[in-house]
Amino acid sequence: MKAISDILPSISYGGDYNPEQWGEKVWYEDATLMRKAGVNLVSVGIFSWAVLEREEDRFDFTWLDKVMDILHEHGVGVCLATATASPPAWLSRKYPETLAVDDKGGPYSFGSRQHYSPNSPVYRRAVKKLVTKLAERYKDHPALKMWHINNEYGCHVSECYSSNSLEAFRTWLRRRYQTIDTLNEKWGTNFWSQRYNYFNDITFLNNTPTFPNPGQHLDYKRFMNDSLFELYMVEKKILRDITPDVPVFTNFMLEFKPLNYFSWAPELDVVTWDTYPDPREGTPEAHAMQHDLMRSLKHGQPFFVMEQVTSHVNWRDINVPKKPGEMRLWSYSAIARGSDGIMFFQWRQSRAGAEKFHGAMVPHSNDEQSRTYREVQQLGQELKQLDSLTGAVVPARAAIIFDWENWWAVEMEGKPHNKLSYLEQVKAYYHTFYKRNIAVDFVQPGGDLSSYDLVVAPMLYMVKDGEEKNLEQYVESGGTLLVSFFSGIADENDRIHLGHYPEPLRHILGMHVEEFVPMADGERNQLSAESKRYHCSTWSDVIHLDTAKAAATFDGDWYEGRPAVTMNHYGKGKAVYVGTAPEQTYIDELLAELIKERYLSAPALAPSHVEIVERTSEKGKHLVMVNHNQEIARVDLDPYASYIDLFTGSEVQQETVVGGMDIVILRETEQK
Ligand code: GAL
Repeated sequence: MKAISDILPSISYGGDYNPEQWGEKVWYEDATLMRKAGVNLVSVGIFSWAVLEREEDRFDFTWLDKVMDILHEHGVGVCLATATASPPAWLSRKYPETLAVDDKGGPYSFGSRQHYSPNSPVYRRAVKKLVTKLAERYKDHPALKMWHINNEYGCHVSECYSSNSLEAFRTWLRRRYQTIDTLNEKWGTNFWSQRYNYFNDITFLNNTPTFPNPGQHLDYKRFMNDSLFELYMVEKKILRDITPDVPVFTNFMLEFKPLNYFSWAPELDVVTWDTYPDPREGTPEAHAMQHDLMRSLKHGQPFFVMEQVTSHVNWRDINVPKKPGEMRLWSYSAIARGSDGIMFFQWRQSRAGAEKFHGAMVPHSNDEQSRTYREVQQLGQELKQLDSLTGAVVPARAAIIFDWENWWAVEMEGKPHNKLSYLEQVKAYYHTFYKRNIAVDFVQPGGDLSSYDLVVAPMLYMVKDGEEKNLEQYVESGGTLLVSFFSGIADENDRIHLGHYPEPLRHILGMHVEEFVPMADGERNQLSAESKRYHCSTWSDVIHLDTAKAAATFDGDWYEGRPAVTMNHYGKGKAVYVGTAPEQTYIDELLAELIKERYLSAPALAPSHVEIVERTSEKGKHLVMVNHNQEIARVDLDPYASYIDLFTGSEVQQETVVGGMDIVILRETEQK
């Protein structure tokens, strides 16, 4: 299959298009307005099952034929959806076993969306039929660019307790453990008399009197992830067989806890995701981290923003619109961090239904002079100048380890501290890189670390078989690794790695932890490093040094004077351990030191509210600069390089200026 940037050589621009909500006359108007706005791609049919298959086996594609033709005539490509995200009423009525079941044991009712059970064989059969029909019908349609499979798997229903799901869970467990004895051992079922004699004895943990078995709980999460993924694969297989050259994807949702997107990504031809930061509190930094994570899922390959909103959503308590210019700014943040597509939910604001107050590219007024449409049009025209960016990657020499299974495990109940937030710990370390414009990838603990100088592993509680070797080899061969508290504690079944914590990493870190001292909300301790003092919270480790040296010590409490942060040389590399949650200044200073040691630097020097990211391909090296502040910002460029400004066409050397709430994109033309 061709690269996505060969199939879609310009930045893709458009959104979800739901023509079934409108009549044919509006379709022509839509296509004309799309053209004016620079739209070149739309996602069609995401919620169209009920009008594509009106009754079982009574298909009607005439309206979609027409829509596809109109779009094609107007130069708009289509991500054709498989329409399986919201099954029609006749399916739920005729086959109630297709409904997902909630944790109280009741089936979800029809009348909203995503009410299907991923493990219902009848639902899967109906899906296969619909997807086959769609693929056969449109396989040669010139508007077809990509397949949009289902929609936001797990968004509303990420757990199902139906009898079909239970059956599937038992089968999944049989496959994973082969024998019931192995399962009992891995789940530690001799504890609280939880031993199972047969796989068929296993039930769901939806109504246990107290903490459920952690191994079982974790496997249920894995099973649900795999159930939804299997469903995706059912569709993908059909599409691949019938249209081998058409890329397929589904749309992800930021760092969505129930789905381990790293396990899905290899089966998507392009990662796409939906981003809805709250204009009241969403920060460019949080948004940037999500983009970086999404880019990392396919090892740096460009991703698409498949949905965002022009102005306001309708599903928060208070739905504040984005301010003038904000949509543009946030779109460029995505492009800076590797997005080749800027798409919206949705094209035309609905007249009826649950989302009629949700913003769209064309508002209810249908007014081309509306702020929304004008902003949409401006952005669409601008993006036409950025063809050389598509396919370009973000070179990063630093990485943060991120692992969904670890996230599930570390936040499960029964821990020394039951309010730990994995994301909070990840964000604390991400912050330093973000503020310094140092590109950072996310990587799994067993992933390839060889291209990174600096790797940070925040709260890596779960270390699975082989991961310690991966980290060990990384450090041994010269990498710098930073590991933070409550790491290296449990195996993949949430059983303790016996020995001294963090046993699997102990030899790399050259220290061990004897006891944990969690802190209550609001409680603090202090640490001293090179005669400076910082506060710390959440957690303290009582540390013993083996070969490591203390880099900071605790200043208070009964473990006063003991190491809080340690450094160890291992092989050709260095391993740092942070045994607490230090205040941000300390994290910044510590990481800045490591960044300096490894000669990592920003692609250009700017005030801290300007995001600068490099994107590079054989078409050139680009600097994308996004100024999130009202004030003008001066950026110092590589003095040996010359650039062209992609918006103005002017030559740039030495320095450039990015206006308040504005963007500059440069392409390097020469290196002296
Ligand atoms: C997404 C979904 C869209 C639309 C949008 C509204 O989660 O995929 O269909 O509902 O939210 O913000």
